[in-house]
Amino acid sequence: MEQKQITITYKEYSGKELSAWQKNLVEKSVEAQSSSYSPYSHFKVGAAILLDNDSVVLGSNQENAAYPSGLCAERVAIFSCGAIHPNKKIKAIAISASTDKFDLNELLAPCGACRQSMLEYEHKQGEEIIVLLKGVDSLVVEFSSVRDLLPIPFNCDALQNVS
Ligand code: THU
Repeated sequence: MEQKQITITYKEYSGKELSAWQKNLVEKSVEAQSSSYSPYSHFKVGAAILLDNDSVVLGSNQENAAYPSGLCAERVAIFSCGAIHPNKKIKAIAISASTDKFDLNELLAPCGACRQSMLEYEHKQGEEIIVLLKGVDSLVVEFSSVRDLLPIPFNCDALQNVS
């Protein structure tokens, strides 16, 4: 038996330490919450994606009376990028959440399905995607790659012998 260890590093910023593009992208993710359709959870999530041509694509969670039919903000945003800007590289995604039902004391960490979906685009473009998560007050946490959020991933390499 050999014990292995995986270490990830990430950065914590207070609001005033953010660069202009980081601050702008986090703010855009907050703006994106306004289009959240979340009548069931009352939990508004916004995602803002920065492309390599400096344009920003927004997404928000879209719920459905048939609950599993809804989709998280991150996937709404990243699938839009895939559909509308298939040849642009994704530089970064900022994600934030709010609710008027209770005090949110944590940052929003993306769900497993969103991590998997984001990883696909990182793998496809061969360049890391920076992930910015907005916490409470002015805290922002930055991961330099989606891989850091999904360290032992499933990707298309596992399918290479399928014909
Ligand atoms: N949600 C997201 O949009 N992103 C996540 O990473 C986690 C959860 C949404 C799904 C649902 O509309 C609401 O938040 C409550 O789970």
